[in-house]
This record gives sequence, structure tokens and C-alpha cells, in this order.
Amino acid sequence: MAINKTSPWRVHFLLLLLVGIIILSTTKGNGQPLAPGVMVFGDSIVTVGNNNHLKTIVQSNFPPYGRDFINQNPTGRFCNGKLALDFTCENLGLPEYPPGILSKEAKGENLLIGANFASGGSGYYKTTARLYNTIPLRKQLRYFKKYQKKLVRVAGTSNATSIITGSVYLVSAGTSDFVQNYYVNPFLYKVYTPYEFSDILIQAYYDFIQRLYRLGARKIGVSTVPPIGCLPASITIFGKGCNGCVIKMNSVAEYFNRKLNATSIILKAKLSGLNLVVLDIYRPMYNMIQKPTDFGFFEARKACCGTGLVEASFLCNERSPGTCANATGYVFWDGFHPTEAANKILADELLIDGLSLVS
Ligand SMILES: *[C@@H]1O[C@H](CO)[C@@H](O)[C@H](O)[C@H]1NC(C)=O
Ligand SMILES: *[C@@H]1O[C@H](CO)[C@@H](O)[C@H](O)[C@H]1NC(C)=O
Ligand SMILES: *[C@@H]1O[C@H](CO)[C@@H](O)[C@H](O)[C@H]1NC(C)=O
Repeated sequence: MAINKTSPWRVHFLLLLLVGIIILSTTKGNGQPLAPGVMVFGDSIVTVGNNNHLKTIVQSNFPPYGRDFINQNPTGRFCNGKLALDFTCENLGLPEYPPGILSKEAKGENLLIGANFASGGSGYYKTTARLYNTIPLRKQLRYFKKYQKKLVRVAGTSNATSIITGSVYLVSAGTSDFVQNYYVNPFLYKVYTPYEFSDILIQAYYDFIQRLYRLGARKIGVSTVPPIGCLPASITIFGKGCNGCVIKMNSVAEYFNRKLNATSIILKAKLSGLNLVVLDIYRPMYNMIQKPTDFGFFEARKACCGTGLVEASFLCNERSPGTCANATGYVFWDGFHPTEAANKILADELLIDGLSLVS
């Protein structure tokens, strides 16, 4: 390699070093986290197990889920280990991960660092969560209102207000709307083009952010959708026998993400004092899938769990034959969700954007 060519990894490393220095200098002296708490809304990419308390098939609170998590605990995260969200909470300096709102930990002082309202199988579209009996975004907001009342009791009005205003809000939705609803639901795909459906989702996003803002959120990071045509289950189910990403689905994801970005700019202009950042997971996921070895992976098509072609939720369980012994070389843990190793890379990629929410 020519000396004057800086490799992407080198740039990456320098960037991380820089971010590390920023974090240290920001937290130095008082050891305070960069934000009082993190509030999480959306789907299985960010849930920490609210579905454990619901009657739904969208579950992950059994092995091998969680086998690389703290105490090998299958918490209801859709991963072998930590989510990108977990790494983000660590980067922000939180002492613990905010509890799932339906868990027994969601009480007392535990509420001071925020809470997680997300639910696997949820999305922007009104019927997505209903199809799977999980928690729609509207209902997540109702839980958030109740949470605020409890927080006032725990921390007092003035402290509660500063927690609500100062916390980082993370929103992840859209993937289930497409993959678990639109593309498998004739009542949707026979009625709307995927682009029309994207527009409907974006309208729902526009409404959701305004509601969240009215409830006090001021620092919001919203995740793009990943390359939905590259998810192992998508390739298996919609790939017509090809082993490559389903290009049509990725085009829809890119369209959705562009609209998400444009709409976020409109929202920022409309809602005063709102810091709204789009967290792009599409590009880093796509890069990992296209050039896995650049990132230390050897497998980006098959997931670790089971045959790696479709398994997710109840299909990924202890009796699934073929589950890999070590997930660190895999981009995907199950048919829809990245491994902890991939999540770490995603979280690193999101650091700079995320920091602009708290600086
Ligand atoms: C508000 O927070 C301050 C600083 O953390 C703490 O000393 C005080 O007790 C809190 N107030 C209530 C009512 O909990
Ligand atoms: C969003 O738009 C901005 C400005 O147009 C651009 O710099 C950025 O890359 C876009 N982000 C995504 C995720 O598309
Ligand atoms: C998996 O492989 C990685 C890299 O080779 C290694 O560091 C790690 O300890 C392994 N994990 C387990 C659980 O065997």
C-alpha cells in the first residue's frame, strides 16, 4: 500500500480516538454522563424485552438469544449479545441500560436514567404492531406519559423536567413495517406501491416526532432503515433463488431514508429548540455486507442462528439445527438482526452523529 494513501481503517481509528478524547474531556472532572437518560421507542432493533410480558410470537427471551450477553441472559434483545443501543448508552456514560417499561425493574430510582418503550414487531404503520400483538408507537407514547408521572413522584417536578428535556431519545422503526407487514401482506402490497407505502410511513413518522416533542423530547436521534433487501430472511424469501441482496427492496429503503432525512429537516425548522439527528445505519450495514472481511467478518449472507436463512424469533431457538458456535465472524445473528460484533461497529459509526445530540 502506498504511504500517502490513508486506509479507511486508519481514518476510522483516528476518528474514534478523537471521539474518545471528546468524551473524556466532556465527562472528565465530574464523571457525569453526557445525558441524564435515554428514552427508546420503536422496534426489535432497539427493544430490551417488553414483548416478554405480552402474548406475541415476536419473542427472543430464550437461548440462544443472549448467549453472549452479560450472564448469558436472554433478556428479550434480538441479538446474541449487546445491541447498538447498549453500546450507545455506554458511550453516553449511563451507569445501567434503561429498563424495559414493562419489566419489573421499571420502578423507583431505576427510572432516573430513562426507559425503553420499544417492542419487537412494532412500526410506524398502524397495523404492524397489531398484526403481532406488540406495542404500537401510539401506545409507547402513552406508556411514556405514565412514565413521566412516575418520574415526578421519584425525582420531583423540577428534576423530572430536566431529565425529560435533557435525555436522548432514540427512535427505530420502519423495518418491520416493510419486512413483516408490507411485503407479506396482500392487503398492503396489492393496494400500494412500496413507494406509496413509504410515504405513508413517513407521514406517520412526521406525526410521531411532533407528539414526542409535545411530550418534552428535545434531543432525538432517529435511525434509518437498514438495507432491508440484504437481510438473510429477505434474500431467502424474496430473492427468487438468488443469493445476493434484493435490489428492489434496497431501493425502497433508500427512498424511505431520503424522505426520512428531508422530513427531519422540515421538523427541525418547525419545532423550535428541537435537535433531531438522522442516524444512518444503512450505509455501515451495507458496507459490512458487501465487504465483510474489511470489518473482520467472514459471513454476511447466512445468520449464525439455525440454518441462517430465515430463523428469527421463535424459529431461532435451542433446537434450531446448525447454529454457529461463535458469532463474532457473522454480520447477522438471526434472519433479521445483526450480531453484537456488527452492532459494535454500527454504534461506533453512530458516535459522531450521536454526540451532536448532546454537545
Ligand atoms: C433533585 O436532584 C438533586 C441533585 O441530584 C437532588 O439533590 C435532589 O434531592 C433531587 N430532588 C428530589 C425531589 O428528588
Ligand atoms: C441527509 O441529508 C444531509 C444534507 O442533505 C446529508 O448530508 C446526509 O448525508 C443525509 N443523510 C442521510 C442518512 O441520508
Ligand atoms: C470467538 O472468536 C473470537 C475471535 O476468534 C474470540 O476472540 C472469542 O473468544 C470467541 N468466543 C467464544 C465464545 O468462543
